[in-house]
Amino acid sequence: MPRNAQWRLVARPEGLFKPDDFRWVEEDVPAPDEGAVLVRTEYLSLDPTNRGWAAGDTYLPAVPLESVMRGFGVGRVVESRDPRFAPGDAVSGLLGWQRYAALDGRALAKLPDVGLPLEAHLGLLGHIGLTAWVGLLEVGRPKAGETLVVSAAAGAVGSLVGQIGRILGLRVVGVAGSDEKCRWLTETLGFDAAVNYRKTIVRAGLRRACPDGIDVYFDNVGGATLEAVLALVNLHARIVVCGLISQYTAKGPVPGPNLGPLLVQRARMEGFIVLDHLDKAAAATADLVRWHREGRLKYRLDVVEGLENAPLAVNRLFEGGNTGKLVVRVSAG
Ligand SMILES: NC(=O)c1ccc[n+]([C@@H]2O[C@H](COP(=O)([O-])OP(=O)(O)OC[C@H]3O[C@@H](n4cnc5c(N)ncnc54)[C@H](OP(=O)(O)O)[C@@H]3O)[C@@H](O)[C@H]2O)c1
Repeated sequence: MPRNAQWRLVARPEGLFKPDDFRWVEEDVPAPDEGAVLVRTEYLSLDPTNRGWAAGDTYLPAVPLESVMRGFGVGRVVESRDPRFAPGDAVSGLLGWQRYAALDGRALAKLPDVGLPLEAHLGLLGHIGLTAWVGLLEVGRPKAGETLVVSAAAGAVGSLVGQIGRILGLRVVGVAGSDEKCRWLTETLGFDAAVNYRKTIVRAGLRRACPDGIDVYFDNVGGATLEAVLALVNLHARIVVCGLISQYTAKGPVPGPNLGPLLVQRARMEGFIVLDHLDKAAAATADLVRWHREGRLKYRLDVVEGLENAPLAVNRLFEGGNTGKLVVRVSAG
């Protein structure tokens, strides 16, 4: 029997993750108890929220020190003591940063066969696709002809949001951190325009790219980009507060934007957590798969090889080192 390997969290991160925040542990592969399922991880999702889970209590309790780092992943059942699962089934869940996980069957979701590779459940579907779909459709309530701006636009969620906006007939403008990412957005994904926030004054760039103002802003970053967008919002604009990645690794207080235009323009700004919307997963999956099959919705994986590399690879999310969905390939399928 192969051995298990895992990363345990041993210190709360300050700023970016450091190698000493984790310890590599090898041990026997666990045997599943009654009702549990042994899963071999194939791909592990690296998400900005990993940093929050490690640092303290958020919408989930903090990862306890000395325990396996929490992480979402996809894999295949090796052994099952839950009648709902059989060896070979494709599953997803909080598998953790480890090669094998023995989890209560109730903590796992069997993945529908949608004719796409397993890793599509981290890049196009799963929590990423559902976040994009719910955030834009249910919170942003876009209407054809409106202007949508999305930040971290070349990332996992943002790249889907912008393309869905185009499918729904919106003018779509992305904000991203390099010319290469901006070119990918406009030349490959069909965004109408993209602004490189590291090179351009964002407010001036957005003013040029959004001559009719901004109706929906899908915010993945908060901070200065949010401030620039607020100056350009239209009457009854909607602001989807999906994430605040520009603030996750900040060590001190962060400057706040002026929310005055929100008031004057009767704009709506609304936060959401994807976990509250799991009842929409089937509807989201149906749309996402259909749009992908029709060639209208692309997803891109940014693959890091090997579980050993997870602790430092996750920092790429905070430095803009990923395009599309950052995942770790833990074992060959
Ligand atoms: N509400 C929910 O339920 C929910 C669910 C999933 C994700 N989220 C949130 O959605 C956002 C995107 O997540 P994701 O998984 O799709 O990650 P991602 O966009 O694939 O990766 C993060 C990207 O953020 C950008 N970024 C990093 N630091 C930044 C800064 N200081 N200012 C501006 N941009 C910065 C980087 O791109 P650049 O090169 O463009 O800087 C980086 O590639 C995150 O805020 C995350 O917390 C929320």
